[in-house]
Amino acid sequence: MSKSETTAAAETLPPLTHIPAHIAIIMDGNGRWAKARGLNRAAGHRAGTENLRRVLSAVVEMGVPILTIYAFSTENWERPRSEVRVLLGLIERVLDTETEELARNGVRIRHIGRISGLPTRVVNKIRQAEAMTRYNERLVLNVAFNYGGRAEIVDAIRAIINEGLDPDEITEDTVSAHLTTGGLPDPDLIIRTGGDQRLSNFMIWQAAYAELYITPIFWPDFDREELHKAILAFGHRQRRFGRVESDEA
Ligand code: FPP
Repeated sequence: MSKSETTAAAETLPPLTHIPAHIAIIMDGNGRWAKARGLNRAAGHRAGTENLRRVLSAVVEMGVPILTIYAFSTENWERPRSEVRVLLGLIERVLDTETEELARNGVRIRHIGRISGLPTRVVNKIRQAEAMTRYNERLVLNVAFNYGGRAEIVDAIRAIINEGLDPDEITEDTVSAHLTTGGLPDPDLIIRTGGDQRLSNFMIWQAAYAELYITPIFWPDFDREELHKAILAFGHRQRRFGRVESDEA
């Protein structure tokens, strides 16, 4: 499809009536995308990174206020060293080359996950990007890097114990506030590309009532139109949060 045809197709998409306040994405399928093209996995991750730029601009344009992306899990350290190096190199490059433009576009960058264990150079760049964008309000972009949902809950429990809180006073809100997403609403919509039907240790506390949208499309191919489809599907979901409709009793 040519570029003008793609634009025309995008223009005919049905309007979005329900924009989620928080979308979280498990960007899966870079490796399979590359394999299908006879390329190596690094090429898949590079294509995935390029796609991130496109999806980010669509998300800003659609008026989504919070986006969380799963870029590197606490389990990803077990991948071959060369692949870990590629992923660390990519986040460094993204922070080097994209932070200024994101800052100009009103994006606030936040890291979620464990900072310990990351190379100092990466930590410094993350901290710099967070500081540079801290007053931005158009979009909060949580970058989950060295992130694991279980590790995050363990860290929250440690922090709660260290603060000496009375066990009887601990509520769900206490736990939420001590997660790395503390202060932000839970995701309304979790999108997983690449077709696997699991959460893979991603936001396992925050996902309690999130709507899940799983698509077989590999992450590098998940474009604006696919995002539009996901948000449209979200708009048709009935969210009951464990309750029934008042006239169903
Ligand atoms: C999963 O695909 C993807 C990842 C482990 C990394 C996601 C990273 C990016 C999209 C680029 C880097 C992002 C930043 C913020 C720099 P996979 O490798 O598991 O694919 P497969 O399931 O097909 O093997």
